[in-house]
Amino acid sequence: MAAQTPPASTGAPLGVGVVGGGSIAEWHLSSYARNPGARIVAVADVDLARATARAAEYSALSPGSEPVRAYGSHTELLADAEVEAVSVCTRNDTHSPIAVDVLASGRSALVEKPMARTVAEAEAIVAAEAASDGVVQVGYVRRWSPNAQVLKTFADAGDLGAVYYAKATCLRQAGNPGGWFADRSVSGGGPLIDVGVHFLDLAWWFMGAPRAVAVSGYTSDRLGNRGNIESLTRWKSADYDVSRNSVEDLAGAVVRFEGGAVLHLDVSYSLHGRPQVGLALFGERGGAELEPALTLFTEQHDTITEVVPHVDSRSFDIVPAFQNEIDGFVRAARGLEPSVAPATHGLEMTKIVTAVYESAARGAEITL
Ligand SMILES: NC(=O)c1ccc[n+]([C@@H]2O[C@H](COP(=O)([O-])OP(=O)(O)OC[C@H]3O[C@@H](n4cnc5c(N)ncnc54)[C@H](O)[C@@H]3O)[C@@H](O)[C@H]2O)c1
Repeated sequence: MAAQTPPASTGAPLGVGVVGGGSIAEWHLSSYARNPGARIVAVADVDLARATARAAEYSALSPGSEPVRAYGSHTELLADAEVEAVSVCTRNDTHSPIAVDVLASGRSALVEKPMARTVAEAEAIVAAEAASDGVVQVGYVRRWSPNAQVLKTFADAGDLGAVYYAKATCLRQAGNPGGWFADRSVSGGGPLIDVGVHFLDLAWWFMGAPRAVAVSGYTSDRLGNRGNIESLTRWKSADYDVSRNSVEDLAGAVVRFEGGAVLHLDVSYSLHGRPQVGLALFGERGGAELEPALTLFTEQHDTITEVVPHVDSRSFDIVPAFQNEIDGFVRAARGLEPSVAPATHGLEMTKIVTAVYESAARGAEITL
């Protein structure tokens, strides 16, 4: 547990620390660097050389300012009184203990998805948030994509009515990143807990965050990581090793919610078939596809119509999505607005993911 270090409270830019200096940290750091209301104070990584390289990279962007500090652990970073809020960008098995320490120090935490591997880990974060002056924002970056923000405006205005059915899909042909992602004991699972949580969360958010009551899930590991496929570029974890893989290739589920709404989900790392990304919402007044391209469906004068919003990008747009996510976290950490994705949302997603794996293992529906 980190020492209680009261965060500094000044009118100056919010001092931020980033724990974990790997690939996703780059998106957090570059977005903080573009936010005039934030100042990167420190980066921590168990690989101190990596933290030092990140710190040097971001110090170079602001010559004349105090250099970004590098630490070899999150506890050292939390002992730095200029750090007021923290991004947790480490591998999945460390999210819960690090987030709990951040919250115990009175700071807010932007915790990368999946928030936790297990319900117990997620509950620890919920309890720590409840006892802290800080808030949690889970890194559901797809909520912050401009196409999702536009659709939320329509949904909140009632254009979809009650959403009673949703389909969420993210099928990759050869997308197992390997390394710790492919080690179940570290990651908690494969495509379901990795990319699946993004789509599960998006659908759930647009459905009005209903409580899941029953889950029927399935998983498959028939193809492995398809490490033989060299004709397609894939993102590979730094410690990629083709022989190391203990996660599913494919997962799917039917989730039933209180009130009767239903969600169908399927996700894969490895599959013989076309890559697909889809999120479709079906409501009592209208429908929408968020992915692959934002489109609304309704009825006008006894005719079914399709509405195509004219926006910069109708699909997930990662650069503005991360910027919006970071800007939102800075406002939430400052207390200017509530967190849009508190730890309770991460707990709900963890319960559903856990139930999918349990249902798949038992071959039966799980009641929550
Ligand atoms: N939002 C998204 O779309 C998205 C995309 C990719 C990854 N992620 C999530 O981000 C997290 C990190 O993924 P990544 O791709 O950056 O992984 P990575 O392996 O590239 O980086 C993780 C870093 O954390 C460091 N680390 C591990 N344990 C640590 C600890 N206890 N304290 C400090 N540093 C520690 C490692 O040394 C490494 O540098 C994962 O939870 C992943 O699911 C989110």
